[in-house]
Amino acid sequence: EVGMNAQDLGKILHREPAEIVKKLFMLGIMTNQNQSLDKDTIELLAAEYNIEAQEKVHEDISDIDKVYEKLAKQAKEAKHQVKRPPVVTIMGHVDHGKTTLLDRLRHTNVSEHEAGGITQKIGAYQVRVDDRLITFLDTPGHAAFSNMRARGAEITDIVVLVVAADDGVMPQTIEAIDHAKSAKVPIIVAINKMDVPGANPQHVTEQLMKYNLIPEDYGGDTIYVNISAKTGENVDELLQMILLQADVLELKANPKQKAIGTVVEARLSRGRGPVADILVEEGTLHVGDPIVVGNTFGRVRVMTNDHGKQVKKATPSMPIEITGLNDVPESADKLVVFDDEKTARSVGEARASQALQKARENVQHVTLDNLFDTM
Ligand code: GTP
Ligand code: MG
Repeated sequence: EVGMNAQDLGKILHREPAEIVKKLFMLGIMTNQNQSLDKDTIELLAAEYNIEAQEKVHEDISDIDKVYEKLAKQAKEAKHQVKRPPVVTIMGHVDHGKTTLLDRLRHTNVSEHEAGGITQKIGAYQVRVDDRLITFLDTPGHAAFSNMRARGAEITDIVVLVVAADDGVMPQTIEAIDHAKSAKVPIIVAINKMDVPGANPQHVTEQLMKYNLIPEDYGGDTIYVNISAKTGENVDELLQMILLQADVLELKANPKQKAIGTVVEARLSRGRGPVADILVEEGTLHVGDPIVVGNTFGRVRVMTNDHGKQVKKATPSMPIEITGLNDVPESADKLVVFDDEKTARSVGEARASQALQKARENVQHVTLDNLFDTM
């Protein structure tokens, strides 16, 4: 069986399942919300909505990756660029102390409240150091979350690689190095758990040198800091090194334009509807801005900062949570601000319809596969 029903299609099309059922009824097909539909029916429905969407939107604005690129380019060429906070992703093997390090920096205790002490999502926070800000992304170290680590590396300026001094280089340490390298992001090594008896930073350093992370003492250019997230030893030193590295990168952004950003995480909240954690990359995002995010659209309704405080606007490198979307976007989806809600809506709908088209093609594959399976 194909498996898609009116509920699934409604989600893709941003329509109530009941509306889909009604539309199908008008087309002469009787179904309920849960009944799976065959390929012909899905095709028929896709055609109906596709025509509607194509009438409304010009092709190239519905390719929001292009709109995103255009706005990113505009920002890079802008005259009034300003310094922006670095975005730093904390990576490393499971239990090596990433969340504890962030807890220390933020004076919180997230790690104690995590199920099984394991991070399962990317968390985004800002920390003030002297008069500067650093944006931190916490990633899970568990083997199962490789995708999240890859995404974390892609939206960051600097990776802090946490390696426990009593455990050394482990599989996800190596994986994190690979992600950072393929995203061409500089790595700062934080050898953690220096307070533990038997901590052997020298051994860890030797292991990491095999991955071309050569400390300055050995003629390389990788910054190493030996820390204890638990006692706080050398954590300030680590922050200073991050700021130093950020200065070298000369990170700038243009806050005076339409915002672009990336989805860090998204979910459906019972009371608030779709909720998305966004990292603003360029421009300033305002409450009320019409937006397209991945295959969904809406208007920024409530914007909350990393302290849970409502804010009216968000500038580059700021992580915020927004509500007001029509549907739950996916992690790594791009956010783009449009001039008006009408355009945002039609672009969003066109993209949803394209997504449906793709889903339909996948359905075809499934049917073919099934066919071969039975032969
Ligand atoms: P995942 O997110 O699941 O990959 O783990 P994590 O890297 O975030 O590790 P987490 O911060 O949850 O710490 C794992 C355990 O190590 C906890 O029990 C911490 O209390 C402990 N820990 C972290 N840093 C230190 C440290 O510097 N010294 C000591 N002694 N224990 C630490
Ligand atoms: Mg963690």
